Amino acid sequence: MGSVRIAGSYQSDFARNYAREGLEISDMVAEAVEGTLASAGLEPEDVESIHVGNAFGQLFTGQGQLGAMPATVEPRLWGKPAARHEAACASGSVAVLAATAEIEAGRYDCVLVLAVEQERNVPGADAPKHLGAAAWIGHEGQDAKFMWPYMFSQLADDLYGVYLRNTENPLHPAIVRYHPFDGDGMIHKVSFRDGKVSYRNRFVRTDGLLTEQETGRSLWAGLAENPEAAIRADGWGARGRMKDAASTDVIVHAGVAVASFYQCGDLYRLDPLTLDDLGKCSWGGSFPSDLGVSAHTKVDDHTGELLFFNYSTTAPYLHYGVVDAGNHLVHYVPIDLPGPRLPHDMAFTEHYAILNDMPLFWEPDLIARGLYAARFHPQLPSRLGVIPRRGGTGDIRWFEFEPTYVLHWTNAFQEGDEVVVDGFFQGCPEPKNAGPNGPADRMFRFLAQDIMQTRLHRWRMNMVTGAVREQDLSDTCTEFGTINSGFGGRPYRYTYAATNEPGWFLFNGLVKHNTLTGREESYQFEPGVFCSEVGVAPRVGGTEEDDAYLVTLTADMNRDLSECVVFRASDVGRGPIARAQLPERIASGTHSCWAPGDSVNGW
Ligand SMILES: [Fe+2]
Repeated sequence: MGSVRIAGSYQSDFARNYAREGLEISDMVAEAVEGTLASAGLEPEDVESIHVGNAFGQLFTGQGQLGAMPATVEPRLWGKPAARHEAACASGSVAVLAATAEIEAGRYDCVLVLAVEQERNVPGADAPKHLGAAAWIGHEGQDAKFMWPYMFSQLADDLYGVYLRNTENPLHPAIVRYHPFDGDGMIHKVSFRDGKVSYRNRFVRTDGLLTEQETGRSLWAGLAENPEAAIRADGWGARGRMKDAASTDVIVHAGVAVASFYQCGDLYRLDPLTLDDLGKCSWGGSFPSDLGVSAHTKVDDHTGELLFFNYSTTAPYLHYGVVDAGNHLVHYVPIDLPGPRLPHDMAFTEHYAILNDMPLFWEPDLIARGLYAARFHPQLPSRLGVIPRRGGTGDIRWFEFEPTYVLHWTNAFQEGDEVVVDGFFQGCPEPKNAGPNGPADRMFRFLAQDIMQTRLHRWRMNMVTGAVREQDLSDTCTEFGTINSGFGGRPYRYTYAATNEPGWFLFNGLVKHNTLTGREESYQFEPGVFCSEVGVAPRVGGTEEDDAYLVTLTADMNRDLSECVVFRASDVGRGPIARAQLPERIASGTHSCWAPGDSVNGW
């Protein structure tokens, strides 16, 4: 089979309206023939065969025979075999296919291919009728006025629900020093329904935000500031004198969006569609207001329960609780720890909740002096505590593993006698050097996963023998992994995680981890484009775990804009299959969630 080379090409200005210029499709063909031959450095006599791709030509222009048009406008092409290919949107591609087949077969050596269409030359009501000729007339979209939006909406109906993302947006300058996690929580909502996408954002109207709005300045200390810097003596958070910005996480429970804060605080409820303020979670008056609740509450799709924890610097240092599907606190127990710890996330299986005691925590003697410096203690083990979901304080069993810190767990499940937990092992929980961005941005070494060496890891605990096993599931530095929540707490296969811009807390790509085979599929955004943690949206009617879409929001620093982009979870490497531009570029942020339409109030 002979090889095929493109000798030259020409593209006319797609934005031009030839009809408004008083031109016809023949003028477009003449321009394309002349431009293409000039680009290739060929004469019309060199051409042996002609293929013209065109959709709906006779409907828009009345010109059905388009194969002959090149010879009509360029007489030296007369006598060449020529054909028009009607294949709707694929007409040009099919014309190329026919030309390459002729060359590969050895019939011709030089073939001219054109793709021409004139479609903006008829009244607006006629154009959709003509375009509708690509559908199966009499069978498809018979009642549709605009065939293609209608047909695309049919395809889009399997993406049906709401993507919510929390972001940190500082409204006032920091008192001393800003940290990326200090900003006020703003929820971004992108909903997909009937082929339409709608976007909205709203600040979470926390007590701290409202007070600072009245005062016109920051009143509480940020993460990179000493609590003594706070203007106000009160405040929130496990370390105190911080602002509860509800800016870390967002989930949907009992039909309502719930925003939370990683240092423990109130849980703020928002309408998941309008983002209207619905007040704080009270759980019938039983919300633990003294300690608040940490970010990374977990929702079990199978039971509708919300599992949560909180932590503090005074004993008991940890609590675990359960809120039922009816939004009632049904379980809340203290968990014994050797001292104050910094748990950030938890996991669950069908029958157990998994809490943690990792050897990176605030130094107790420094806490006594009002200083909150997290230190890694490599001589101490990592401990995972497994407690029945409604178990008491004494029912928890602790298992010891290699020392590390885990910011996020991706999933957990039961397999035989074992409880299996997946998350991101940190090879370097307390980086000492400044990182690639220099001393001015030293704080980013605690946020950049390439510096912390975060890798997907699996911990196994045998509930009968007490034996433990652990292993890396990947050599690739990723974090912020999400799953198809229908598989939460159950055996599963896929985690969709983010890669980071070296040295920064910015996500520059996605990796689909197959936890069974170790296979990875990745996608890298173009330089300067960063995404958010993805929401995994199961395809309506789908049953396979990765028969789903991945939804994320980008911040494009090159073009100063943001987009909502959608991937097919089964083909991450292909890149986005749909995108919608947001009105403004949005801030960097942390966590997100996907909620199927049927699971949110007011859908
Ligand atoms: Fe987190």
